[in-house]
Amino acid sequence: MLKSVRAKVVLLRTAILAVMLLFFGLALHRQASHGLEAVLDNTLRCQAEYAAYVLHGGEGGGEIAELGEHIVAHRDLPRDRKLIRILNAQGDVLFESGPSNFKQVNGMAPAAKAVRSGELVYETVATGRNSMRLISLPAVDQEHIQHVVQVGTSLEANQHQLWKFSRILFLCGLAILTLVTAGGWWITGAALRPVRMMVGTAKRIGTTDTGDRLEVPDSRDELEELARTFNDMIDRLESASKQMRSFTAYASHQLRTPLTIMKGEIEVALRKPRSAQEQDRVLQSALEEINLMSKIVNDLLTLARADSGEVVLETKPVDLNDVIQGAVSHRRVLAEMHGCSLAVNSSRGHRVWADRDRLVELIENLLDNAIKYTPSGEKITLDLRRDGKGFLISVTDTGTGIASDELDKIFERFYRGKNSQTQRIRGSGLGLSICKWITEAHGGHIRVVSRIGQGSTFSVWLPSLEAASQIAAR
Ligand SMILES: Nc1ncnc2c1ncn2[C@@H]1O[C@H](COP(=O)(O)OP(=O)(O)OP(=O)(O)O)[C@@H](O)[C@H]1O
Ligand SMILES: [Mg+2]
Repeated sequence: MLKSVRAKVVLLRTAILAVMLLFFGLALHRQASHGLEAVLDNTLRCQAEYAAYVLHGGEGGGEIAELGEHIVAHRDLPRDRKLIRILNAQGDVLFESGPSNFKQVNGMAPAAKAVRSGELVYETVATGRNSMRLISLPAVDQEHIQHVVQVGTSLEANQHQLWKFSRILFLCGLAILTLVTAGGWWITGAALRPVRMMVGTAKRIGTTDTGDRLEVPDSRDELEELARTFNDMIDRLESASKQMRSFTAYASHQLRTPLTIMKGEIEVALRKPRSAQEQDRVLQSALEEINLMSKIVNDLLTLARADSGEVVLETKPVDLNDVIQGAVSHRRVLAEMHGCSLAVNSSRGHRVWADRDRLVELIENLLDNAIKYTPSGEKITLDLRRDGKGFLISVTDTGTGIASDELDKIFERFYRGKNSQTQRIRGSGLGLSICKWITEAHGGHIRVVSRIGQGSTFSVWLPSLEAASQIAAR
């Protein structure tokens, strides 16, 4: 129902204040009522005590009626607002003065109670429309209760005072509530103004993607933090979306090249009847392109899974010598076909905690590069040695080398060397990204040292089995 935070905050604040004011008002009202009652009781008591004093000769003797009139004339309460009644100890009325509705009040019960207890008795009794406060005082003479003096007055004046007081309380409460609600509405609106501005900018960012950012208020409060967090989030989303766009663009570009080649060759082959030998050549070429495409798709899949954390490494103790021998056995023929020699310096006993197949893939990728980017007749060396708390696998070639300004880019996805020799060699620029991911997933790191025209050395460092167990135990 209430959709704005402003309305909710103000309503809640007003409701809490209203409840507090109600309790405060009730407490004040109660206090005022007790105070007025105490003052009235005190006045009645004074009048009754004066009456008892007069009755027992304090102002000289006389007939009861005469004494009664003297008492009535006493200044405490006006004549028309008080009841004065003098009874004997048996309850017979000896004197009575006051308005007729006051006289109708039966005072027998309180009088009897006063006689019984010998103490002042306070009562509130009904008198038609209103109530009356009546006190009964036993008047003692010669150690015996001779008379009971009753003095009473209407509570109407008190009730009227209380009603006036309640009205003032109510009006003050209403004024406070109105002021606080209006002030709260204004203050909350001012406090939420930056939020409304943020919402507006956020909507614009969502629809136009213009690189706009929220204005960060210099308020050192939650709003400043919110604006910063929001801007950071937009930065991250934008860079993720850019990455995704370039990823898709690169991937489609990489797949388009082999598809175009295949399409061209098949179209040419279909134009006129071909000999079986020519058909073989076209099929062979198509197979090569399909192999290339399937490598690209596999690499893309591996990286996408790695990004989403879906790849689970099947780790166990692995001897690096076995990994190296496995990768070399797959690539030796390729190196020989390329006219390069492949020397391996490794021995058993270099154990790591790893996924064997992933490590084989890592070494194969490095060997592929060394073979691809090394001219025929050159040499490729693969070394394995201990290095600190782990082992270092180095693949060294004496090939084209890499320019120094490219060394930090070659591990990026889809990055391919810019020199003309590299450009002539086919590849998708994903191999080293996969190498980097595999190395880091095993707690290691990969480095490259290279000089253009002299060759490159790619070094992969992996923690030993003992070092990996120590890290896991921590
Ligand atoms: N041994 C090497 N000698 C010279 N340049 C290299 C070597 N290894 C990598 N490079 C450079 O690094 C770039 C990125 O290598 P990466 O293995 O990631 O991609 P690629 O070999 O081009 O393609 P693929 O995805 O098929 O492996 C290469 O294009 C090349 O320029
Ligand atoms: Mg490669």
